[in-house]
Amino acid sequence: MKIPEDLKILIKKEQIQEKITELASLLNKDYKEKAPVLICVLKGAFMFAADLIRQLKITIEVDFIKLSSYGSNATSNGDIKKIHGLNSELEGKDVLIIEDIVDTGHTITFLLKELTEENPNSIRVCSLTSKPARREVEVKIDYLGFKIPNRFIVGYGLDFNEKFRNLADIYYLDIEIPEE
Ligand code: PRP
Repeated sequence: MKIPEDLKILIKKEQIQEKITELASLLNKDYKEKAPVLICVLKGAFMFAADLIRQLKITIEVDFIKLSSYGSNATSNGDIKKIHGLNSELEGKDVLIIEDIVDTGHTITFLLKELTEENPNSIRVCSLTSKPARREVEVKIDYLGFKIPNRFIVGYGLDFNEKFRNLADIYYLDIEIPEE
């Protein structure tokens, strides 16, 4: 696949992998005596979750959830509807949510609220990226990879109209995002 000219590199694959090694070593330490359930939020987090999990030396369980999507719009509106696909019993467990990006914060806020109702022992958030400039609700990210500027990013699991998820680096779209 030829990479379009208006995709500019933001985070190189080597930087991503280095950061994942750091995050994994923190998790290996913090969850040493535990057996956390890692919940990968589809689709965007699949690649991050796969690379991160490969570096964990602790006992873990893995699950995947899918939320009602924003469709092909570049922005979210906080209208998140439903969790699909969660199979794990979370009561008394240590839960770690794996995200690719925290943008407005609505998704994580929704997830924390919903999953807390399952009575886990603890619940934390691990996100590869965060875009603080776009935050509409304050969220605590316990394990963060990169703070990124207010640009639309793709690659390493993240898409634009479902494309570019397969790129190993993270790029930004060098176009103006129209105001809503
Ligand atoms: C993205 C991302 C987060 C969410 C963050 O998912 O993976 O789940 O948006 O945005 P927020 O902080 O503004 O709520 P998206 O709905 O694009 O779905 P996808 O991962 O399937 O591409």
